Amino acid sequence: MAFVGAQHEFHNTRFVRDWADRFVPSPERIQLFDTIIDSIANHAQASTHVVELGIGPAYLAERVLEKLPNVTYEGIDFSEPMLEIAAERLASYASRVTFTQADLVAEEWGAKVTHPVGAIVSTWALHDLGGEVNTTKVYRDCRNLLMPGGVLLNGDFVKPDDTSHDYEPGRFLVSRHLDMLQEVGFEDAQCLIYLEKEIDNPTAAQNYVCLQAVG
Ligand SMILES: C[S@@+](CC[C@H](N)C(=O)[O-])C[C@H]1O[C@@H](n2cnc3c(N)ncnc32)[C@H](O)[C@@H]1O
Repeated sequence: MAFVGAQHEFHNTRFVRDWADRFVPSPERIQLFDTIIDSIANHAQASTHVVELGIGPAYLAERVLEKLPNVTYEGIDFSEPMLEIAAERLASYASRVTFTQADLVAEEWGAKVTHPVGAIVSTWALHDLGGEVNTTKVYRDCRNLLMPGGVLLNGDFVKPDDTSHDYEPGRFLVSRHLDMLQEVGFEDAQCLIYLEKEIDNPTAAQNYVCLQAVG
């Protein structure tokens, strides 16, 4: 049985720079970003504060800041080299951006966020937390941090329903994500889009969705 997953060294500068160069956004990933941006625009005030979990090289952040010119943005990541790249990419938006170095699993990162939060976003990051227990912890943190009516948008890798392959523990079924979001108190959880679906011969960079949960 094939295994679907990836090994990362997010505290290694060379690995991180190479990762950022390899994963310049594809048209499908830009579609994911725009799904997230449309949802923020539909659920939050134009001047809301957006928090991104695992900002990485800030490809999503750059597009959000361009398309939603009145939001402020806070990028969280535990990787110093990723935060350096993110700061370089977002230099022209510096007055609207802050960065917070924190481990989403080991820390109560929500206590470091200063503004009321209208939207929490993330792409290709929460599967790296290691599995359902840690993802549930972060979903609960998000539920506690969001203002009433605020929105969580998680664009991440999942395990497809009909697979015969083995997936790393951080990648699980869409239905399980939706159950977990409801378990931590989100009232309205749904999957907005499924991108690069590949059942028979998947790579680690296929099968990702946009999950939306309203607090
Ligand atoms: C695969 S990269 C995705 C980066 C970016 N979101 C994107 O889509 O291009 C995952 C990111 O999550 C961060 N990350 C992984 N585990 C983390 C944790 N426990 N706490 C904070 N950040 C974490 C990594 O440092 C990395 O920047």
